[in-house]
Amino acid sequence: MHEAGARRRVIAIDGPAAAGKGTLARRLAAHLGLPYLDTGLLYRAVARRVLDAGQHPSDPVAAQAQAAGLLPEDLERNDLRMPEVDRGAAAVASIPGVRATLLAFQRNFGAAHGAVLDGRDIGTIIFPEADAKFFITASVDARARRRWLELVARGIAAEFETVKADMQARDAADASRAAAPLVPAADAIILDTTALDADQAFAAALRILET
Ligand code: CDP
Repeated sequence: MHEAGARRRVIAIDGPAAAGKGTLARRLAAHLGLPYLDTGLLYRAVARRVLDAGQHPSDPVAAQAQAAGLLPEDLERNDLRMPEVDRGAAAVASIPGVRATLLAFQRNFGAAHGAVLDGRDIGTIIFPEADAKFFITASVDARARRRWLELVARGIAAEFETVKADMQARDAADASRAAAPLVPAADAIILDTTALDADQAFAAALRILET
């Protein structure tokens, strides 16, 4: 069984859009008996609140106020994964005041009992001392295809080329922003899932954790 020390382990999983971070993080968390936090949901929920209020996601004052007012139930909404919110999340995520407002919640979540967290800056900013850090990548075509299939499966009409172009634009924005850019931590293990299905990615990550 898990020892007390193992329970407090923090595992950081970062990477670009639709690389398979969430699937891997959820499975690792279940396997290791750790809580799981999808930090992208925080930015998505802030964007949703901004959009619902008729405000602009690039407005720093509005976005920071919405981040400060974020409620647990905002994370449970079923309209957080759609193209408009993808773009809005990337916009609010580039605002330093929004990131600062969400930082303590993420640290507290992991500090209490350990956790697996996935996002863009977990290994670099949120938990630079994480016990293990993964940077999950895949080719842009593989990632766009996964996201397109997800949307189609949920009945959201989308063109593959549009999904791919939106994803490339968001990755570029995430990687080039000044505040917590998307970049592998120096000590992150890079895992390319282009040719791996979810089971293979999980097995590869477990092997790495066990060595
Ligand atoms: O599911 P997907 O990989 O497409 O995106 P996500 O993880 O839900 O994140 C949505 C957006 O939130 C990203 O494009 C980033 O701009 C932002 N984000 C961030 O800046 N930092 C995080 N730790 C997580 C997400």
